[in-house]
Amino acid sequence: MIGVTGATGNLGRLVVEDVLARGILPRQIVAIVRDREKAQDLIAKGVDVRVGDYSQPDSLRAALNAVTKLLLVSGNDLGRRVSQHQNVVDAARDAGVTLLIYTSIVNAERTEMQLAGEHQATEVIVRASGLPYVLLRNSWYTENYTRNLASTLERGAMIGSANGGHVSAAARADYAAAAAAVLTGSGHENRAYELGGDTAFSLGEFAEELSRQSGRRVEYHDLSEAAHAEALMAAGLPEAVARMVANSDQGIKRGDLFTASGDLHRLIGRPTLPMRDVIAAALARL
Ligand SMILES: NC(=O)c1ccc[n+]([C@@H]2O[C@H](COP(=O)([O-])OP(=O)(O)OC[C@H]3O[C@@H](n4cnc5c(N)ncnc54)[C@H](OP(=O)(O)O)[C@@H]3O)[C@@H](O)[C@H]2O)c1
Repeated sequence: MIGVTGATGNLGRLVVEDVLARGILPRQIVAIVRDREKAQDLIAKGVDVRVGDYSQPDSLRAALNAVTKLLLVSGNDLGRRVSQHQNVVDAARDAGVTLLIYTSIVNAERTEMQLAGEHQATEVIVRASGLPYVLLRNSWYTENYTRNLASTLERGAMIGSANGGHVSAAARADYAAAAAAVLTGSGHENRAYELGGDTAFSLGEFAEELSRQSGRRVEYHDLSEAAHAEALMAAGLPEAVARMVANSDQGIKRGDLFTASGDLHRLIGRPTLPMRDVIAAALARL
């Protein structure tokens, strides 16, 4: 059976949909969630929904019964993820999982971004488990930049501190398709894929494209790392998150989130969704 953790999250949901679209029967998919209430749509589709919390090893052991290929979607509890992921890996080994797939960060071997630390530590745990594994090293989601589109358009401004650095962002749906391809395919054992969009872009280029499509002028303002963090805090972000975001922009400036590997294109068997299409879809939802 195919197991997907974080199945009620943005990425996990898309992975389950993609696996179903590839002809896998719903009852052969185990959706691991921490809140069954949020999984009513998956239950209605006939997917085997089981409760498993990364912080509760017993729940994970029960949830992984008979799962052979498991996608571990990295958690979102910053600072607690290494021990949580360790719990999932331990439970996967106990359950006899034959392929463990983990959503890591692009360029995990060289990136200096703070955010990457927990992914790097998890990669060590995954390799040490002795299980056949696949590392899906994702760059940014393009949707990170369309999340607050209405207020971005209203302000006519985007802020950042990545200068002209290029990010190989890709649509979540493309990363989900890559995960589904690995879950349903063969020959991926012990590979690390560097996943990113076919065409990287700078934040200035993103603002240009947003201006063009929306008909509203949106300027990209480049700040220092410290000023960027301050501005995010002033906008209401908790300090730790604000500093992490500004630190990540330094990563973009260095090229930490850039890849020209072509791995995502190859895994999904088609070009990745261009940034302009993600913007168009987000504008259509406003
Ligand atoms: N590449 C990028 O640009 C980027 C951006 C943001 C995040 N990420 C990483 O990629 C992951 C997936 O992205 P996403 O957009 O799908 O994020 P998301 O919507 O926040 O999904 C995270 C999933 O992890 C589940 N989860 C968190 N803690 C858990 C726990 N203790 N036990 C069991 N499940 C737990 C959540 O459960 P609930 O549904 O119950 O909340 C949710 O389903 C994120 O968690 C984060 O590690 C990447």
